[in-house]
Amino acid sequence: MKQSNRILAIETSCDETGLAVLQKKGDAIEVISQVVASQVDIHAETGGVVPEVAAREHVKIFQPLLKKVLKEANIVSPGWRSGGPPTRAQQQRALGGGAGADRTRGEVDAIAITVGPGLIPALAVGVQAARTLAYAWHKPIIPVHHIEGHIYSALCAEKSQIPMTKSQTNTKFQIPGPKAFPILALIVSGGHTMLIEMREHLHYRVLGETRDDAAGEAFDKVARLLNLPYPGGPALSRLAERGNPRAFAFPRPMVHSNNFDFSFSGLKTAVYYTLRDNPTAKPEDIAASFQQAVVDTLVTKTAQAAQAVRPQAVLLAGGVAANTRLRQELTATLAQQRIELRAAPLALCGDNAVMIGQTGLLALEHMRTISWQQLEAHARIDLTPWAERWG
Ligand code: KG4
Ligand code: ZN
Repeated sequence: MKQSNRILAIETSCDETGLAVLQKKGDAIEVISQVVASQVDIHAETGGVVPEVAAREHVKIFQPLLKKVLKEANIVSPGWRSGGPPTRAQQQRALGGGAGADRTRGEVDAIAITVGPGLIPALAVGVQAARTLAYAWHKPIIPVHHIEGHIYSALCAEKSQIPMTKSQTNTKFQIPGPKAFPILALIVSGGHTMLIEMREHLHYRVLGETRDDAAGEAFDKVARLLNLPYPGGPALSRLAERGNPRAFAFPRPMVHSNNFDFSFSGLKTAVYYTLRDNPTAKPEDIAASFQQAVVDTLVTKTAQAAQAVRPQAVLLAGGVAANTRLRQELTATLAQQRIELRAAPLALCGDNAVMIGQTGLLALEHMRTISWQQLEAHARIDLTPWAERWG
């Protein structure tokens, strides 16, 4: 097996267009170039993501972003050195490989792509681009599940490296060895709230998930009740900083249940009735009390799962992992059990291609590759059976 691999990674499952070129040497991963274009401003007008609008934005921006990451990584399409489109002869030489092909500058070994779950029109943009590139470059495709991407964004992060601001981006990561397991992961995003156990790389057991709204979705819906701008999570948590988290006793759903599932839709309803019945309630107190209820629920359930799994570390990733209160309280509670919290760097909490590349580089070594003809997008795919397919 080759000691060093380089891949192009693509993420378009929702409303961020992510592209990155990453390289792995031994257990060290280096991000050579990366970009994320957010559509937040566009979706703010409708208060949520309209799948067709998201897809159109991905289409608009994909090509310039691709050009940018490839250029920064010094990668050229075969036969495309002179700046302009390749001539017919160049194309034939490049596609056919062989002696005449222009392989003097950098290439990628494979293309990693999010195949789902996500919005089909949005996923389809990345999938179609990956198919085309894989066909033109004669390279294999590495299919990646969006949730395992979030998991690896935290698993590859070393505690000492985690930058504290969103603008700081890591460029170097380390894939932990077998001693890092078992691992417990809490994935909290706009679409998912999951507790996942890992006993080895690329294998997952889902211990629990939400039965209705995801944690991020609850943040977004309560933010709307408080007339905060989309996306609600960051705005609500900023407002909560000025409020009293004990002003209202909102429920902590399912903390006494006999499983690791979550449910956040009742909490959102409780906030609705509290606002209706207390018209003079301070929005910052509602925000702080709601946030505390979500944080308490996530922390309690994760601590319960940690007692069952006895992990070497707990991972925290996904959009809601950017929440400061959640990071702080989970760190403190797990410290009592002498368990380290490894949270995704802030820059990688939201959707991005670096996390798809981190997973993809490992999956490539485990021979998880398909041809462009086999690549498909899936609106829903259960993580465990999907990952087991690859052995
Ligand atoms: O992972 P992500 O970017 O997209 C999905 O895969 O869903 O997560 C987006 C979610 C949104 O619901 C957003 O409101 C939430 O993450 N979020 C936050 C914070 N920052 C983003 N929720 C709470 N506190 C935050 N600071
Ligand atoms: Zn996500």
